[in-house]
This record gives sequence, C-alpha cells and structure tokens, in this order.
Amino acid sequence: MDARDRLIVALDLPSVAAADAMVTRLGDAVSFYKIGYQLAFAGGLAFAETLIRAKKQVFIDLKLHDIGNTVATGVESVAKLGATFLTVHAYPQTMHAAVDARKGSGLRILAVTVLTSYDDADLAAAGYDFTVPELVAERAAQARDIGIDGLVCSAEEAAKLRGIASAGMVLVTPGIRPVGADKGDQKRIMTPAAAIAAGADHLVVGRPIVEAPDPKAAAEAIVAEIAGATR
Ligand code: C5P
Repeated sequence: MDARDRLIVALDLPSVAAADAMVTRLGDAVSFYKIGYQLAFAGGLAFAETLIRAKKQVFIDLKLHDIGNTVATGVESVAKLGATFLTVHAYPQTMHAAVDARKGSGLRILAVTVLTSYDDADLAAAGYDFTVPELVAERAAQARDIGIDGLVCSAEEAAKLRGIASAGMVLVTPGIRPVGADKGDQKRIMTPAAAIAAGADHLVVGRPIVEAPDPKAAAEAIVAEIAGATR
C-alpha cells in the first residue's frame, strides 16, 4: 500500500465550505478522508460523494447501532455512496447485519470495540461486568468470527489486537501525534511511526493537520514518517 493511502485525515470541520477549502489546500498530499458526526450532519454526506468523484477514499464514521434491519438498510445506502470504510459498534447483531448488507460493494465495515473515552467505571455504570481490556478482546474476537473487515483501536491496543484479528482485518488507529504536536484532549497518543510499528494499517489524524499553520506540509511530513516506518 502507498504510504499516502495509510493516512486518513479527519475532516472535523463545521461546514462543507470549510471542508472543501481544507481538501483544496491539502491537494495531492492526502487521498483518504474521514467524515464524522459534525460534518455529516452539516451536508457532509453529499460532500462525501464529491470527494469520491474526485477519486478520494472516504471513511464514514457514524458508528451505527440499531435493530438489524435498520443497520442493513443504512449500510446499503452508505455502500451506494461509494464509501470505503463505515464504522459500527461491535454488537454481534449489528455486526452481522452490516457485514451481510455490504456484500457485493466496495464498502468495508470497521467495528468500534469499546470507545476510548470509557474506563472500567464507565463500563460498570453502563451495566457491564467486564474490564475494558476484557471487553475489547471479547468484541474483537466476535468481530473476527462474524467477518468484520477491520477494527478501530488505539495504537496501544493495536499490538494486542493483531494477535486476535484475522490476517485480512485492517486496524485503524486515531490518537496519533507527531513529535512535538499538541495533544489536545487525546490522552493515549503515539507517533505515526510507533503506531505503524505497533501494527496499525491506517492512521486517523485530525487536528495536527487541519489546525496546522501549513496543513499540506503537516500531512506530507506524516506520510514521510509512515513511509519510513513501513520500509
Ligand atoms: O484531532 P484528532 O487527531 O485527535 O482526531 C482524531 C479523530 O479520530 C477524531 O475524528 C475523533 O473523533 C476520532 N476518534 C478518536 N478516538 C477514537 C475513535 C475516533 O479520536 N477512539
């Protein structure tokens, strides 16, 4: 895989106009974009189609979870957009429905095991009798057995999940910070090179690129670091 295709830039921006301006500034430096709640609910799904027509890959990060029929029909609509990745929460019914519904399309389903903002106390408050590592491992194994295409995980979890995931599953990791970058609200961070060494296939990077004084130079530096780590 081209190092450039391993970088996914999170378009965490308030409007399509802002996202379009950022994509123009980034130009050929970036080939893969993530659209989450903020942009998706402000015209971002139509913008996803624009990006796909411009030969960019798109990751729709809407973390679906509903009854099977609703998940399946939602996944069919995202597949028609031409998106490359879509996230769902790692509940067995939801994962089964999503995997069945993406068949015959180029869409790949990524499962979110346990949100990285959750600790053991949050899981207990939500009614689970598992620690975070236990539930992450259990859900990753279920995702593998159901035929999910990949997992979203912290770079710290990547090495462990490489041992659970099947060979064909992709690991996609946010929480990436180049040396010297502002951490923002991320608590567990890794550099691009360390995340690749830990087994990540794709890195999701938002603020270190979109809030940089020169976003294109920031993206090019990360792609160069990825290229160095994958050689
Ligand atoms: O700006 P930053 O690089 O921290 O952005 C990371 C992106 O990855 C954001 O879109 C955030 O919602 C997403 N994400 C994350 N941690 C997760 C899952 C997704 O930071 N566990």
